[in-house]
Amino acid sequence: MSGTQTSGRGGTDLANGLDAVRSFLLAPTPQSWVDTAVERLPELLLDHANCELKAASTALGLIYRYPERSALVHRMSRLAREELRHFEQVRRILQDMCVPFERLSASRYAGTLREALRRGEPQRLADLLLVAALIEARSCERFAAIAPRLPDTLQTFYLSLLSSEARHFEEYLALARTECGLAGEELTARLGELQRLEAELIVSPDPQFRFHSGAPQKGFGPI
Ligand SMILES: [Fe+2]
Ligand SMILES: [Fe+2]
Repeated sequence: MSGTQTSGRGGTDLANGLDAVRSFLLAPTPQSWVDTAVERLPELLLDHANCELKAASTALGLIYRYPERSALVHRMSRLAREELRHFEQVRRILQDMCVPFERLSASRYAGTLREALRRGEPQRLADLLLVAALIEARSCERFAAIAPRLPDTLQTFYLSLLSSEARHFEEYLALARTECGLAGEELTARLGELQRLEAELIVSPDPQFRFHSGAPQKGFGPI
């Protein structure tokens, strides 16, 4: 795995998880995004904190929406707690860096993926789980892309998040296969559509900088 250190069994698992994530995504993070993120760390961390909170909220939303699905509820309950711990960790880092917490506008990325969700079941559930898998995979890929360029403390923290997000990606993908009752070919075809949309959001010019924003557009706007 490029740019990150792996050693021992944990390191091998991490490398395997990252390989799976990278082959799942149709486009890598543009280098121009990494260069910008390094220069805008307070904004990156602020939006990262929001992303962790939204990840917890997504898991809770699935519990509210599908309370009869025991396997799903069990996984989501655990996942929501884990994401809230990540949120607390990022907030602590922001405090240590004396960055005041503030509300940010929603990113193009999550909003566009949400607009793509189909209505009606089980298509809605399938899309929610596939989109969640994509967001987790992208988060993992971005942690790995930016970690080598970060100060030591932040680098250690981001590398520690890699394995969690890789596991979340695998869990959402597995749930999409087991919980929706869709045929394998239908699920694969839909996944392909969402993967292409996600990749387009990552490589196309984006006027706003966020944790999941696209390629920095010329004249990238302020926070
Ligand atoms: Fe997380
Ligand atoms: Fe996650």
